Amino acid sequence: MSDVVAYELKGRIAVITINNPPVNALSHGVRKGMQDAFARLNSDAGADAAVLVGGGRTFIAGADIREFGKPMQPPGLHEVLDAMEASKKPIVAAIHGTALGGGLEVALTCHWRVAVASAQVGLPEVKLGLLPGAGGTQRLPRLVGPKMAADLITTGNFAGAKQALAAGVVDEIVGDLVGGAVAFAEKVVKEKRPLRKVSELTDKVSNIDPKFFPEYRATLSKKVRGFLAPMHCLAAVEAACTLPFAEGMKRERALFQELHDHPQRMAQIHIFFAEREAGKIPDVGSDVKPKEIKSAAVIGAGTMGGGIAMNFANVGIPVKILELEQAPLDKGLGVVRKNYETSVARGSTTQATIDKALSLISGTTSYDEIGQADIVVEAVFENMDIKKQVFAKLDQVMKPGAILASNTSTLDIDAIASATKRPEAVIGTHFFSPANVMKLLENVRGKDSSKETIATVMELGKKIRKVPVLAGNCFGFIGNRMLHGYTREAAELLLEGAMPWDVDRVIYNFGLPMGPFAMGDLAGIDVGWRVRQGRGGPPEKHYRIADRLYELGRYGQKTGAGYYKYEGRNATPDPVVQKLVEDTSAEFGITRRKIDDEEILYRCMLPLVNVGAQILDEGIAIRSSDIDVTYVYGYGFPSYRGGPMFWAEQMGLDKVLAMIRKYEQEHGSRWKPAPLLQRLVDQKKGWAAASKAA
Ligand code: 3HC
Ligand code: NAI
Repeated sequence: MSDVVAYELKGRIAVITINNPPVNALSHGVRKGMQDAFARLNSDAGADAAVLVGGGRTFIAGADIREFGKPMQPPGLHEVLDAMEASKKPIVAAIHGTALGGGLEVALTCHWRVAVASAQVGLPEVKLGLLPGAGGTQRLPRLVGPKMAADLITTGNFAGAKQALAAGVVDEIVGDLVGGAVAFAEKVVKEKRPLRKVSELTDKVSNIDPKFFPEYRATLSKKVRGFLAPMHCLAAVEAACTLPFAEGMKRERALFQELHDHPQRMAQIHIFFAEREAGKIPDVGSDVKPKEIKSAAVIGAGTMGGGIAMNFANVGIPVKILELEQAPLDKGLGVVRKNYETSVARGSTTQATIDKALSLISGTTSYDEIGQADIVVEAVFENMDIKKQVFAKLDQVMKPGAILASNTSTLDIDAIASATKRPEAVIGTHFFSPANVMKLLENVRGKDSSKETIATVMELGKKIRKVPVLAGNCFGFIGNRMLHGYTREAAELLLEGAMPWDVDRVIYNFGLPMGPFAMGDLAGIDVGWRVRQGRGGPPEKHYRIADRLYELGRYGQKTGAGYYKYEGRNATPDPVVQKLVEDTSAEFGITRRKIDDEEILYRCMLPLVNVGAQILDEGIAIRSSDIDVTYVYGYGFPSYRGGPMFWAEQMGLDKVLAMIRKYEQEHGSRWKPAPLLQRLVDQKKGWAAASKAA
């Protein structure tokens, strides 16, 4: 036997255990070990059947993702699965933890499956830009029918053991994993049950309503705009309903290969690993233990405060929201309640779940009531004087050891910390709007933030089901600092010849949920105007159009007009804006020109990359992939493009630099290339060479 696959007899049942920590991925050694183990089963006179189980915390989490794109070392997974299904002796999968991707495909090839009640199953390949490529798209529909199979395979969602039992994916729920599975196998042997091969089932994939797949496809294509994998997943499930098993397997293979070789797969796997890397902070080792967060407080019940509080309550952490006056407190709590009710109405959660969450959220107007919280997150107005006052007060009332966090989106964390006598406990926890929905948590370390404080907010991010990234302290940190150049160029394009809807169309087609002007209308033209007033300084030319919209009372969606005209949320281009844009160009003496889509795209996107390179060089981001994670989870950058830095590297940093140089010649110093970009191109290296994690 190989090191990673153990074979032992319990009575007359062979227990085959996979030991490939941390998640028993189907690496080469596992495949080889399984092949040997099933060959041994069939020649072992002492064994009547086998139980296949994962050692450690889980069953099998799927193929070894690190092996994609590299030459496959035989045996391949198909070969192992063919041998398993052809086994003359029954094989029972014993599932705990998660059976995912290739892991569930292994289980589906076993003749029966048992699971403990806490187990989960799923085919999440779609999230990696792939489809289940080892029979999952052919076997799952044969067990559960095309609807549930398509739902699971096109979303990558998991099903719990109970749901899996009801659907027939699992045959029995057991208390004791190995003991229960061995007893199940003994029963199968005793009853001389014929081997149950999922590949031979036909009931659930016959006589499918001819409208099912066309209708499913139409709905899905809207939901997954831009992503290739979900549509391929559906095509493979359809093949299970129209082709014999062997032919369906060939179709699955061909579709899998197309996805495997596609840049979207590379981008999505980049994000999978980037997300996990982002949690690793070079100077905060595993010896630094995060503090336990059992209670929380939030200051400010506005747009962000309410959403932040919901994150705590959703994972069972009681949270108090503080406002100085009762009226804004009641208003904020009302918005929280309404958000939860909308989720119930939409069917995305249950009344019981929200009742529990709401029971954990309370309001107060007194600082005396929050002092015992383990963490406090400040979300008051974006104004340094107010933030300093709040932190001075927190310093007085919070118990020793509490974390004092700020949700500021741009301001200096060190200046905020200077209002306290415990700067080591102060840190930025920058949530994104809507805070209860957006996955990113951009934590910002100040110069004095302690390692324990950093470890605590990184761990907290995972606990509240966010993707935490750690940024250094500078104006706008990673995300908003980069965004400035993007919105600036979009505005410049209007002066030079584009219309807001031209720019928005290009950005939307690139894959972002909306372009910069639709975004401006959503966030509020007045909000941007107020920020500019607060910052002072001479007016910048490119904000002239936004200022004029403000002067006209066109604040965006909330006033029914901004860059667009609105009916509800439906935006239409407005001739008034067209004239306003043209007049503003004339005011500056600019002769408008036709701007093509390619220029719009690069003018908006390359500043992200250039500033990204700058902040990577400064150490504000630890690694370029942290920037990608920030943009994918905080700004809706399409994961199938891997984030702005990955996208740039795929294009070629030399090509990126050449374009930036060209724009520098045309538009001046705002396009000055980041020194790091120039250095990497000179050295023919990629972003990895600039990582601060090495
Ligand atoms: N291959 C290689 N490494 C994997 C892996 C996999 N399938 N799944 C997880 N890992 C690694 C992670 O990168 C991480 O490594 P690190 O410690 O060096 O950073 C480590 O295992 C632990 O992973 P997590 O931090 O994610 O641990 P969690 O406990 O939070 O989550 C999990 C565990 C739910 C299994 C999660 O890791 C996961 O979702 N994994 C991916 C599952 C998946 O997508 N499977 C399908 C693979 S493709 C496939 O099977 C193709 C087939 O159809 C042919
Ligand atoms: P908001 O204006 O909606 O809410 C601020 C709330 O704080 C108000 O309810 C106000 O009454 C309260 N408040 C003001 N001073 C207070 C004080 N001294 N004590 C207690 N409560 C006080 O503002 P919003 O949008 O929620 O922003 C809050 C913070 O979050 C800001 O720092 C902002 O930059 C940041 N942020 C905002 C995002 C957004 O999209 N709105 C996104 C990410 C961060």
